[in-house]
Amino acid sequence: MYGMVNQALEALVTERFGAETWMSVRQKAGISDPAFITMKQYPDEVTYSLAVALSEHLQEPLADLLRAFGVYWVAYARRGPWGRIMLASGSSTYELLASLDAMHARIAISFPELRPPSFKVRPEGHSIVVDYHSHRPGLAPFVIGLIEGIGTLFGESVTVEQVASKDAGATVDSFRVSACKAS
Ligand code: HEM
Repeated sequence: MYGMVNQALEALVTERFGAETWMSVRQKAGISDPAFITMKQYPDEVTYSLAVALSEHLQEPLADLLRAFGVYWVAYARRGPWGRIMLASGSSTYELLASLDAMHARIAISFPELRPPSFKVRPEGHSIVVDYHSHRPGLAPFVIGLIEGIGTLFGESVTVEQVASKDAGATVDSFRVSACKAS
């Protein structure tokens, strides 16, 4: 994944747990580069190793950390150079979720080697169901956090429930999402 993702993880860990924790995590993950370059592609293993090393260091479940990283990512991306593209892609949780593929396609103009996920959205009563397609395994908890982070972005209270899981044999990971304006 592009260095931007690893930089966001570094920012999260440094903010919440301090620079020393980040140094230990990086070392544990076997990463020798002192800093990541935003626009450079790194093997996915780098990101996965960092996340696993963090989970071991903090003795927290990997899924919980990925979810927290998802929430953090939206706030981080918002204050970065592509934040305007994200905000222009929707004005509510449902709208942004429905336009994530178009949004990543716009971002791919700056990141030509981007291999983004794909999201398909369909209404179900007052909720929506989001199908998440990716060639990368294990990131469903990250997606849950991302959707929660989108809710926060729009001042909405959001519940996310995973209703189908590739780990349990489904063909796709699916989430039921309910959002309403926070009171
Ligand atoms: C300004 C906002 C955003 C930017 C700049 C951005 C950029 C990126 C980048 C660079 C990657 C790594 C993929 C690669 O390097 O091949 C990525 C992955 C990903 N993005 Fe975004 N993204 C943004 C917002 C979002 C939002 C709001 C979601 C909400 C669901 C999202 C969902 C994901 C997921 C799940 C991945 C992991 C890769 C995978 O599942 O295969 N992104 N994005």
